[in-house]
Amino acid sequence: MASIGTTPLEDRVWLVTGANSGIGKATALDLARLGGSVVLACRHAEKGQAAARDIVQASGNPHVALMIVDLSSRASIVSFAEEFNQDYRRLDALVNNAGVYTRERMTTPDGLELQFAVNHLGGFLLAHLLLDPLIASAPSRIVNVTSSAHKIASIHFDDLQGGRKYRGYTAYGQSKLAQVLFTVEFARRLAGTGVTVNACHPGLVKTNLGLEGTPKVFRFVRMFFKSPAKGAETPVYLVTSPKVATLTGQYFVNRAVSPVSRKAQDPDLARRLYDVSVHLAGLSTK
Ligand SMILES: NC(=O)c1ccc[n+]([C@@H]2O[C@H](COP(=O)([O-])OP(=O)(O)OC[C@H]3O[C@@H](n4cnc5c(N)ncnc54)[C@H](OP(=O)(O)O)[C@@H]3O)[C@@H](O)[C@H]2O)c1
Repeated sequence: MASIGTTPLEDRVWLVTGANSGIGKATALDLARLGGSVVLACRHAEKGQAAARDIVQASGNPHVALMIVDLSSRASIVSFAEEFNQDYRRLDALVNNAGVYTRERMTTPDGLELQFAVNHLGGFLLAHLLLDPLIASAPSRIVNVTSSAHKIASIHFDDLQGGRKYRGYTAYGQSKLAQVLFTVEFARRLAGTGVTVNACHPGLVKTNLGLEGTPKVFRFVRMFFKSPAKGAETPVYLVTSPKVATLTGQYFVNRAVSPVSRKAQDPDLARRLYDVSVHLAGLSTK
C-alpha cells in the first residue's frame, strides 16, 4: 500500500477549514483521492454537505466527514475542537485555509474585526486546540494558507481591530502577515515535537473570495486567474510531499520556498503578535 511516511495513507486524517468552496474544496478533494480520512470544517451545514457529496463522488473515497465550525467565534472553535478530539485519535495535517475579504469593517460575535479574526486568529486557536492529536500523530503538519498580500502589510498594534481607521485591503494584508508571523513563531515553539508549520500563497485563484462589493473590473480580471484545482497544488504539496517532511517555518509559492517581506522576518514582531494572539484567542498560557 502506498504511503508518504511511516503511516499508511488510508490511516491518515486530514482536516481542511473552509473546505466547501474554492481552494479548500479542491485541497480536500485531492487529499480524499489519496485515500485517507478527510474532515471538512465548514460554517454552513448545507454548503458543507453538498461539498462532501461532491468530494465522495469525485474521489470514490467514502471517508469524508463534515464538521461545523464558525472561525469567527471562539465558542464555536472550542466546541469544534472538543468534538474533534473526542471523535479522532489522530490528525496528520491541519490546513488552515478558510478566509474572508471584506471591504467594509465587520465585527465578530467576540467583538473583533472579521478578517483578523477569521484569517488569523481562528486558525491560530484551532492549531493550539488540536495540538494533542497533531503531536500524537507526528510527523504531522500544519499548513497556513496565506497570501502574497502580506508583503505590503504591517501589524497595527495600536489599532489591530481597525476601529479607528479601516481599509479592507489593509486589514486583509495585516491578517495575512499575521498568518506568516504565526507560522514562523509556532514553528520555533514546536521544534522537536515532529509537527511542522508552513505557510503558502496559492496564487491568484478564481474563487468566491472578494466577490462581494468589489468593482466590476475585479470580476473581469478574475477571469484570468487560475482554477481552484491549480490553487490547491501548493497546499496539497505541503501536506503530502516527502520533500518537505522536515521543513518548517517556511513560506511557499508554486511548491517552492519563497522569500517573505522584511516585516515577516522580524522575530520580535512574531513574538509580540503571538503573545497578543494568545490573549485575544483566550488561550491559557499555563
Ligand atoms: N483566491 C485567491 O486568489 C487567493 C489568493 C491568496 C490567498 N488566498 C487565500 O486562500 C484561502 C481560501 O480562499 P478561496 O480563494 O478559496 O476563497 P473562497 O472560495 O471564498 O473560500 C473561503 C472559504 O472560507 C470559508 N469561511 C469564511 N469565513 C468563515 C468562517 N467564519 N468560518 C468558517 N469558514 C469560513 C468559506 O465558507 P463560506 O462558503 O460559508 O463563506 C469558504 O469555504 C483564503 O485564506 C484566502 O485568503 C486566496
